[in-house]
Amino acid sequence: MKPVYTLEDLVSRDVLDAGVHKPARLAVLGYPIAHSASPRMHQPALDAEGIDARYIRLEVEPGNIPEAFARMRALGFIGCNVTVPHKLEAMAACDEVRPDARALGAVNTVRFDADATRGFNTDGPGFANAIEDEFGVPLGSLTVAIAGAGGGAGQAIATQCVLLGMERLVLANRSVEKLETLAERLGELGGRTEVSMFPLTGAALMAACQDCDLIVNTSSVGLKEGDPSILTADCLRAGHLVYDTIYQPPVTPLLALANQTGCRTANGKSMLLHQGALAFQHWFPGTDPLAVMKAALA
Ligand code: ATR
Repeated sequence: MKPVYTLEDLVSRDVLDAGVHKPARLAVLGYPIAHSASPRMHQPALDAEGIDARYIRLEVEPGNIPEAFARMRALGFIGCNVTVPHKLEAMAACDEVRPDARALGAVNTVRFDADATRGFNTDGPGFANAIEDEFGVPLGSLTVAIAGAGGGAGQAIATQCVLLGMERLVLANRSVEKLETLAERLGELGGRTEVSMFPLTGAALMAACQDCDLIVNTSSVGLKEGDPSILTADCLRAGHLVYDTIYQPPVTPLLALANQTGCRTANGKSMLLHQGALAFQHWFPGTDPLAVMKAALA
């Protein structure tokens, strides 16, 4: 059993170690993919449900998603998760895409049904469930500021906020041009949310953040040792809810600053968990994998 399989392995069940291990029927596709924590939570959930399937990591180079889907289908895979950088390519490679995934602009979960390859997005809904789980309040009832909204995670979370009919959304990013494209897309959703945009520094952003209930980091700032906090201390106040989509390290510079300020904080582990549980339920409707997955990630 390999820690990472490749497209070349998707030629026969023998290459995937059939007969030796449970048959590979689910996978997470990315490039690179060796670091993915997804098998760590999906495999125990499969085992607990008594499903005869193995969840593998599959390294797929950009451009090869349609081929990967075709080979997985031929080998009887149930579905897959898709991560960076494949979420757009996966959307294009599906026969049908759920409207909310289309609005989110990305597919992270795929189901190989007999009649069609169907695409879903559980990142946005998984984030909403994570916020309710961590802080005990529905995401749609909050006003939210997203720092580093220019990347894929920022786009998914901003879209989820608008789909939930949130009253007010603040977007902040190093390059403001990226926000203009995002704001245009959010406007096309036709919701009631008032969206404002700021660069990452300045008094206007500080005032806008102070006025929000929830602050979210969706950037990669905080992943690397020595990274600063994406926001300065004057953007935070006691009572703020602060969520970092990063979970490694568990306490990012933003969360450390928020803890010192008296905010309630949580990291991206709960988003990983909830998007995973929702994906599992797309493959196996009626199951409830959350508790097993949570224990496996702990
Ligand atoms: P993706 O998630 O699509 O792969 P990314 O390139 O990893 O995107 O960037 C994610 C976010 O992190 C972006 O909002 C990016 O800001 P820019 O749009 O201005 O590039 C943000 N980001 C990355 N490094 C940053 C840094 N050193 N300072 C501020 N923001 C940063």
